[in-house]
Amino acid sequence: MSLGVCYYPEHWPESWWEQDARRMRGIGIEFVRIGEFAWSRYEPERGRFDWGWLDRAMDVLARSGLKIVLGTPTCTPPKWLVDANPEMIPVGEDGRPRGFGSRRHYTFSSRAYLEESRRIVEILSRRYGNHPGLVGWQTDNEYGCHDSILSWSATDLAAFQDWLRRKYQSPEQLNEAWGNVFWSMEVTRFDQVSLPNLAVTETNPAARLDFWRFHSEQVAAYDAMQCGIIRAHSPGRWITHNFMGFFNDFDHWAVGDNLDLASWDSYPIGFVERFPFSEAEKNRWALTSHPDIAPFHHDLYRGVGHGRFWVMEQQPGPVNWAPWNPAPKPGMVRLWTWEALAHGAEVVSYFRWRQAIFAQEQMHAGLNLPGLHELSQGGREAQTVGGELKAVGALLATGKAPVAIVYDYESSWITRIQPQGADFRYHELVFRWYEGVRRLGLDVDFVRPGASLEGYRLVLVPSLLSVSEQAEKAFAAAGGILLYGPRTGSKTRSYGIPPSLPPGPLAARTKLRVLEVSSLRPGLGARVTGLVQGEAQRWRDYVEAQGADVLARFADGGPALLAAGRNHYLACWPDEALLHATLKLACGKAGIETLDLPEAIRLRRRGGLLFAFNYGEESWRVPGTHVAVLGSATVPPQGVAVLRA
Ligand code: GAL
Repeated sequence: MSLGVCYYPEHWPESWWEQDARRMRGIGIEFVRIGEFAWSRYEPERGRFDWGWLDRAMDVLARSGLKIVLGTPTCTPPKWLVDANPEMIPVGEDGRPRGFGSRRHYTFSSRAYLEESRRIVEILSRRYGNHPGLVGWQTDNEYGCHDSILSWSATDLAAFQDWLRRKYQSPEQLNEAWGNVFWSMEVTRFDQVSLPNLAVTETNPAARLDFWRFHSEQVAAYDAMQCGIIRAHSPGRWITHNFMGFFNDFDHWAVGDNLDLASWDSYPIGFVERFPFSEAEKNRWALTSHPDIAPFHHDLYRGVGHGRFWVMEQQPGPVNWAPWNPAPKPGMVRLWTWEALAHGAEVVSYFRWRQAIFAQEQMHAGLNLPGLHELSQGGREAQTVGGELKAVGALLATGKAPVAIVYDYESSWITRIQPQGADFRYHELVFRWYEGVRRLGLDVDFVRPGASLEGYRLVLVPSLLSVSEQAEKAFAAAGGILLYGPRTGSKTRSYGIPPSLPPGPLAARTKLRVLEVSSLRPGLGARVTGLVQGEAQRWRDYVEAQGADVLARFADGGPALLAAGRNHYLACWPDEALLHATLKLACGKAGIETLDLPEAIRLRRRGGLLFAFNYGEESWRVPGTHVAVLGSATVPPQGVAVLRA
């Protein structure tokens, strides 16, 4: 439980390094991440290395007592490398190459780039793998940032055709799986398969899903390559990757399998701008962020990291990349830091030590003012937490939450390939369910489809489009109450409609069939009444109960909420009231006690402590009797309380 910072020694005069390191230690920082964009500085031409500066930087940092996390530099291949391997350049869906001049200018399909990556990771891990200051590694930087997972070049096409050959063995099986008889799309050779872009109209969704799976598998394999090399040359050091917020373009569970721990980059205010909130909500949360945005990801990445995660980059002030970039309210940097720790983060590391005075990110805050040795507002708040951490002492591990949410990357792809309703967004649906549970005062774990659900009293499946055999088994074995949302089980593994109709493999368990679906444009709600009340928005399933009890109905009598033993099915995208009532009902059945928290208050438990966070404008008193470890039971606006029952 500690603090860290991202540092770019190559951006500052060498004569500053020592002072920077000392000042980091002075405000309570223990870890420093370096190196992830420095390739052109240590290999200015192929095979000509200049390690002197990095040797000295590592030594200075280590001597000051900082523990170093070294990033592999593969997110920013230098110009000479790109010029020598033009086939590595990614191509957009529009067919246009995405050139040199920023970052992430490579496609995971490029064999040449894979070899170059192998080479540099090996050289780097041999050179620094046993450095006494080095404690861990970060592979690459933010896989997928700037829309860089899917690439549509000739290199990608050849690799995709190979992948299909291995998967389907024969063109006939491919035709069958994709339904290529439709519109005469059949092929007789794998090299006739084209990329699913630039056609006259929509391309085959089954092809698109496979194209997405193919790219996602490439990311995991590329990451595994880096991890394997690092492990061989850097014994005793852990490996992580820094994932992003609200980003679903590859299967993070699979990349997580390569890693010792997950980490993610938390920009709570930037994400408010980018999330499909209403304008009113955006304004409401513009200066604090929405109280579930950061926690949603802490809980998700704790799952991806097998129980271990860091925040690798914590927003320290205004960022530069959202449409608007307001400065956070005073207190929020401290609040976000404590909140991450409450959710189980081992380290919160700020991005970045000092605001840059040049290039793309000069408008992005740091812990120090641009080009100066002087703490910014965020820097002072980090310093406050540094002091508080000493006072609070070590925190115990996070326990298992009562509620699990099943999170599935393929469901995101399937609903983006064919949303069927323009506002059916998987990540938004899951986020709303998460928000609903957290408003009830509960802690949440995220689990992958097919993982054991043992020990969870309530399992939420906001939507799981295609239910694998393993997922079905996990649901069958779950001991708690299960609640499935709309579109669950509505696709086969190869993107078709299940022969038994949705929810496919779950039909027997849920005792219902979905006969028809209807997407609802804004304003076209459908009233729901019964044991729970509210309105369906965006989406409605027309369900036939086949033995399930109907707990609530639409105005036309159609089932809206059904139960068959422990299994529940919510046949729509619920509005806030309906979601709240449904989650409360499910918690009641699961024997979970709930609270009704104000919209700006959240709680989290960790190792016998209760944490309270106030995103609002008014003080709030935590109910019950507690001993305050930090703050008091009355939590001021932008305040934090750490309490012992
Ligand atoms: C992250 C990235 C950093 C920096 C930061 C700015 O996405 O990993 O390198 O660009 O955003 O907020």
